Amino acid sequence: MSNVAVVTGASSGFGAEFARRFAQAGHDLVLVARRRDRMEQLARELTAAHGVTVTVIDADLAEADGAQRVADRIADAGLKPAALVNSAGFGTAERFADEDPARIADEIRVNVLALTLLSRLLMPSLLAAPEGFLINISSTAGHQPVPTMAVYGATKAYVLSLTEAIWHEVRGSGLRVLTLCPGPTETEFFEAAGTDRFRVGKVVGVRESVDEAWRALHRPSPPPTLTVGLGNRVNALGARLAPRRLTLAVTARLTARGGRANIENS
Ligand SMILES: NC(=O)c1ccc[n+]([C@@H]2O[C@H](COP(=O)([O-])OP(=O)(O)OC[C@H]3O[C@@H](n4cnc5c(N)ncnc54)[C@H](OP(=O)(O)O)[C@@H]3O)[C@@H](O)[C@H]2O)c1
Repeated sequence: MSNVAVVTGASSGFGAEFARRFAQAGHDLVLVARRRDRMEQLARELTAAHGVTVTVIDADLAEADGAQRVADRIADAGLKPAALVNSAGFGTAERFADEDPARIADEIRVNVLALTLLSRLLMPSLLAAPEGFLINISSTAGHQPVPTMAVYGATKAYVLSLTEAIWHEVRGSGLRVLTLCPGPTETEFFEAAGTDRFRVGKVVGVRESVDEAWRALHRPSPPPTLTVGLGNRVNALGARLAPRRLTLAVTARLTARGGRANIENS
C-alpha cells in the first residue's frame, strides 16, 4: 500500500484536520497519538465519508523509543507510507528557572526527538513514493527565542531548521517537504498547555490554517516554510531583521500580555 499518510497528533487539532484532508484526497491513514478512542472515532468518520482504510496506533511519543515502535508497527502491517505529518506536540510556558525538568524532557522527546526519528525512519518510504509528503509542524514561536517559553520556542526553532534543511536535500525528488509555522490556532493546545500565554495575537481556525498549508503544498514548487497569516509573516521577517535585543524585548512583552489581551478581546 503506497498511498498511506501517517499523521501523529491525530487525536485532535492540526493532526485530526490533516488526517481529514489526506482522507479527502483518497489516502489511507495511520493515526498516531495516545488517545485511542478519539482516533477510532475519527477513523470511523473518515472510512464512512471517504472509503479509506485507517490504522490506529496508540503510542506515547514521549517515550524514548516511541518513534521506533511506531515505525516498527507500520512496517509489521506491511505499509509503505507516502506521507508523514508530524503534528504531535505540546508547549510549556514558565520562566526557565521554574520549568519542571521532567516536563521539559517530555517536551523535547515529543516535539524534537520523535519528530526527527519518525521523519528519518520513514524517509526511504517517503522518497520512494511517486508523490510523497513530509509536513512538520513548527510554530511562529520557532522564528525567534521566546522568553517564558524558552524550551517550547527552542523545540520549534529546531523543527524549522531541520525541516528546511531536509527540504533542500530532497529538491528534485518527488517528495514535497513543508515546515508549517502556525500562529495561535483554536485547538486543544492551550488547554494542554494549561495557560493562555500562547494566545498571542489573533487566534485563527485550524481548518483555515490547514487549507493554507494544503494550497502551499500543492504549488508547483512548494516553499520550505509556510508561516500562516500575513501578520505572522511580517512579524517573522521583523524578528529576523531586528537586533536580537529588540526582538527579545518585543517577544517578551507580547507573551506576557498574550493571555490578558485575548481574554479582554473575547
Ligand atoms: N494551536 C496552536 O496555537 C499552535 C500554534 C503553533 C504550533 N502548534 C503546533 O501544532 C502541533 C499540534 O498541536 P495542536 O494545536 O493541534 O494541539 P492539540 O489539539 O493539543 O494536539 C496535540 C496532539 O499531540 C498529541 N500528543 C501530545 N503529546 C503526545 C505524546 N506524548 N505522544 C503522542 N502524541 C502526543 C495529542 O494526542 P494525545 O493527547 O491523544 O496523545 C494531540 O493529538 C503541535 O506541534 C503544536 O506545537 C500549535
